[in-house]
Amino acid sequence: MRRPVLTRTRSELAAARAAALAARDARTGEVAVVMTMGALHAGHAELLRAARRRAGVVIATIFVNPLQFGPHEDLDRYPRTLPEDLALCADEGVDVVFAPAAAEVYPGGQPLVRVDPGPMGQVLEGEFRPGFFTGVLTVVGKLLHLTAPDLAYFGEKDAQQLALVRRMVADLAFPVQIVGVPTVREPDGMALSSRNRYLSESDRTTALALSRALRAGAAAQPDGPDAVRKAADQVLGAAATARPPLSLDYLALVDPATFTDVPAAHTGPAVLAVAGRIGTTRLIDNVPVLFERA
Ligand code: PAJ
Repeated sequence: MRRPVLTRTRSELAAARAAALAARDARTGEVAVVMTMGALHAGHAELLRAARRRAGVVIATIFVNPLQFGPHEDLDRYPRTLPEDLALCADEGVDVVFAPAAAEVYPGGQPLVRVDPGPMGQVLEGEFRPGFFTGVLTVVGKLLHLTAPDLAYFGEKDAQQLALVRRMVADLAFPVQIVGVPTVREPDGMALSSRNRYLSESDRTTALALSRALRAGAAAQPDGPDAVRKAADQVLGAAATARPPLSLDYLALVDPATFTDVPAAHTGPAVLAVAGRIGTTRLIDNVPVLFERA
């Protein structure tokens, strides 16, 4: 198995990208990027595999972006597992890993000019994590410039992030195609997340209510949007009195293009999204729901 080239600086990245591209024939000369914050798991692996299937060159970025963490969030304790991450990248046939220091990405300190996510960045995750999507879109935009891909892969696990990246790329004319990848789950339904490793066994039992609520909601789809919201809410209500309790931030059924609530008579695609805290760990999850025309 070929090990990926580990690059730390912009110039190392550019050189490794060019070398990897030169080693491919013209037919498979597309470059794909998978952006991550490391602590890689089977969800990230699925993105890398999707990229590998299609592109001639696969670049993975590993960067815990300080700009997208609030002052009381988990930036300092966010898991950093570079040796294991590199082994996973090798298993998935990644060509180049870009794992820069913060000073390489933000040499002048925090950037003065940032990407404004607009109204879609103010709701749901944006409401509970002020500045989060500004930080995400700023680093995604920057990493798109540095990696110069034809394709960029993002998980549906972070559905609002995926929707905002799609809008940024369309609204600001980034020359890249965004590809969404369905959420990878544990056999019991729990969505894989780097933050799952914070959970004790009892925390995890409570956290399972998130995916259970989404399944209950999705199963009520034939009865319409209000029934979906109600079915999910019932499961979450029970988890609020579990030990430890689930502290719900939001449950919302939204339009996937705008992340605004869908009306009771909605037809077409929707996203049922949930976020909550168990102790000091905050988790999010969502499922797509399709409302057929009656
Ligand atoms: P991170 O949380 O590391 O996620 C990196 C990518 O993996 C994202 O596109 C995310 O949606 C995807 N992903 C995570 N868990 C997944 C799962 N269970 N199934 C499928 N895909 C999954 O998201 C970020 O990092 C950052 O915000 C980033 C985009 C890298 C910008 O800093």
